[in-house]
Amino acid sequence: MSQKRILIIEDDSSQREILSDYLVHHGFSVVTAMTGSEGIKQAQDKSPDLILLDYKLPDADGLEVLTELKERLPLTPVIIITAFGSVDKAVNAMRAGAFYYLTKPVHLEELLLLIERALKKARLEQEVASLRRQVSGWPDFLPKEIIAQSSAMKELLNLARKVAETEATVLLLGESGTGKEVLAELIHRLSPRRDKPLVRINCAAIPGGLLESELFGHEKGAFTGATKAKQGLFEAADHGTIFLDEIGDLPLELQAKLLRVLQNGTFTRVGSVKEIKVDVRVIAATNRNLEEMVKEEKFREDLFWRLNVFSLNIPSLRQRREDIGPLADFFCSRFAQKYNKKIKGFTRKALEALLTYDFPGNVRELENIVERAVILTESDYITLEDLPPYLHKSKGSNPAQDFFDLPLMEAVEKLEKMRIAQAMQEAEGIKTKAAKLLGISERVLRYKLAKYGLE
Ligand SMILES: Nc1ncnc2c1ncn2[C@@H]1O[C@H](COP(=O)(O)OP(=O)(O)OP(=O)(O)O)[C@@H](O)[C@H]1O
Ligand SMILES: [Mg+2]
Repeated sequence: MSQKRILIIEDDSSQREILSDYLVHHGFSVVTAMTGSEGIKQAQDKSPDLILLDYKLPDADGLEVLTELKERLPLTPVIIITAFGSVDKAVNAMRAGAFYYLTKPVHLEELLLLIERALKKARLEQEVASLRRQVSGWPDFLPKEIIAQSSAMKELLNLARKVAETEATVLLLGESGTGKEVLAELIHRLSPRRDKPLVRINCAAIPGGLLESELFGHEKGAFTGATKAKQGLFEAADHGTIFLDEIGDLPLELQAKLLRVLQNGTFTRVGSVKEIKVDVRVIAATNRNLEEMVKEEKFREDLFWRLNVFSLNIPSLRQRREDIGPLADFFCSRFAQKYNKKIKGFTRKALEALLTYDFPGNVRELENIVERAVILTESDYITLEDLPPYLHKSKGSNPAQDFFDLPLMEAVEKLEKMRIAQAMQEAEGIKTKAAKLLGISERVLRYKLAKYGLE
């Protein structure tokens, strides 16, 4: 087994030295920090396997440091060292995720036993979690290739199942890559129409002129190039389901035609006056804000209400972090199979980096990251080095680092933007308050918010 690294956060230098010497003597590698903030920084930079935290530090409250450590390194055990007599605090610390506590003066053999127990438990926990993720966590109606561990997703899927049984039009909303198409397919598969076709079309991918004929078909000679009559997708989907992806990109002229299909199931082919009647269930999806589009008159309000009968909002991946681990495992085994590699999983550091990353591209981004890592890795486990460089530092690590590569004006602007965003958050969006925090006038703040697109 490789050498384990322990971080000691302790302000008292003689205490720090005693602990450090003892642990090095017992085969550990040791990093030390004298203050809470330095400890947090070291924890991030050095990714220790275990942390010893003195609960009484000059610059910070032990509980706060602990909470911060647990947020950034959720899987790393922390042992608290507290003054004799502050057992209450120690109990609080355990509630906040500490592995255990020791009171001063520290008995070194006791400490060593505790460290070994903590490391063993951390290892087991990791294995158990990974096994559990493989065998359970799915509501029983779910196909294996849909992962949902978070309660938010489970709730959403239960709603999806209920609406699947009905004929209701469904509107799927969510950021790009959250799984809208996956959900549309699931709804079709759970619906009474499951044996009939599911026809998909991406309204954004087809030029406006062709879209009408694609959706509704055309008669021979309807336009130049229409040498034969052609059935549209609505006809192809008769008795089944049609999935209208990126519905926000449907041109206004076609919105009226779609509204009519939704209202009475009828439409005409391009170049024809004959009404065709179909029985089609519609599922639509978009990552756009349709309500805003209605206000801007880019989306018909009546169509919006027709579509919005039953809408499902898929949360972003950062709003359901419990799903990151199970999804990562799932993609890992899928790609390991695809690329014919034997991979057991992720190292703790790699997993921690994934668990704390924000995933602007949601599940699709995670999928791509894991595929790349499976291709790159040369060992049984995916390591931090197999993940893209922007994941190597978890969030909150020295942001100043990013500035060093920029030209001066850009660096200054970036810093200004970050500071303003932070103040706005602190002020809960109230501009007068944020302006005060920043020591600038509200007028200047408004100007800068507009300049940086922070409105
Ligand atoms: N819960 C899930 N379990 C397993 N894989 C998922 C899950 N959600 C999404 N994926 C996978 O993530 C990728 C993105 O999903 P999908 O295409 O459904 O997202 P989307 O919301 O339609 O994205 P976009 O808005 O970019 O079209 C797909 O490869 C899909 O298989
Ligand atoms: Mg999609």
